[in-house]
Amino acid sequence: MPHHIVILTGAGLSAESGLGTFRDKGGLWETNDLAKLATPEGFAEDPARVHAFYNARRDNAARAEPNPAHHALHHLSAQHEGRVTLITQNVDALHERAGSEDVIHMHGALHGALCAACEHRYPAPPQMQASDPCPNCGAPRTRPDIVWFGEIPYQMERIEGALLSADLFVAIGTSGSVYPAAGFVQLARAVGAQTLEINLDPSDVASDFDTATYGPASETVPAWVDQMLGS
Ligand code: APR
Repeated sequence: MPHHIVILTGAGLSAESGLGTFRDKGGLWETNDLAKLATPEGFAEDPARVHAFYNARRDNAARAEPNPAHHALHHLSAQHEGRVTLITQNVDALHERAGSEDVIHMHGALHGALCAACEHRYPAPPQMQASDPCPNCGAPRTRPDIVWFGEIPYQMERIEGALLSADLFVAIGTSGSVYPAAGFVQLARAVGAQTLEINLDPSDVASDFDTATYGPASETVPAWVDQMLGS
C-alpha cells in the first residue's frame, strides 16, 4: 500500500450524480459562454447573469447525491488514516457529503461566497444576487467563491507540498485540459511517484501516466479502492 496517495478529481467524478461536465458532448462550456460566466471580466460586465448561472448550479449540486465513487474515496481515506490528500477541481460538495474531510477545493466551491471588496468569505445562500450586501463590510460586491479563468487556484502551496511527498498520484474524472491541475502528474513523476489515470476515456495528458483504468467512475473507483485496500 503506497504511503502517501494524492488524488485529484474532476467533473467526471460527479457525472453519475447527475452534474454536468464541461467538455463532454453537451457539456457546460459547449452550451454556455465561459468568457461571460467564468471570468472576472464576465462578472464585472453582468453580475446578475453570472449569479444566475451559479445559482442554478448551486441548486443542482444541492439536490445531487454522492455516487459510489465519492463513497469509495471516503472509505479509502478512512482506512488509510491521514495518508490520503484529496484535491478536487469540482465546486460541488459531494466529497463532503460522502464523508470526506479536509477536501482541497482548488477551484473554490458553490457553497462558498466571497466579498470582492473586503475578501470576507462566508457560506453562500442558496440564491445569490449582485445587490446582496457583504455581511462583513456591507458592500454590494458579493460573488460566488469560485476560481474563475485567469485567477489563481486556491491552496497551491499545500497542493505542491503534497505532490512532492506523493508515492502515488491518481487523477480521476478530469480531461487534463486545464492547468495547473493538468500538470500535477508531471510534478508527481518528477519525485518518483507512481501515476494512475482513472477516467471514462483517455485525457489530454493520458500519456503522462504509468497506468490507466477506463470506465464509469462509479464502477472503476470502487474497484480500484478495493484493490488498494486488499493489497
Ligand atoms: N466516469 C469517469 N469519467 C467521466 C465520466 C464518468 N461517468 N463522465 C465523464 N468523464 C470524464 C470525461 O471523459 C472527461 O475526461 O470526465 C472528464 C471531464 O472533463 P471536463 O469536463 O473537462 O472537466 P474537468 O477536467 O473537471 O475540468 C477542469 O475546467 O472549466 C474548468 O474549473 C473548471 O474544474 C473545471 C476544470
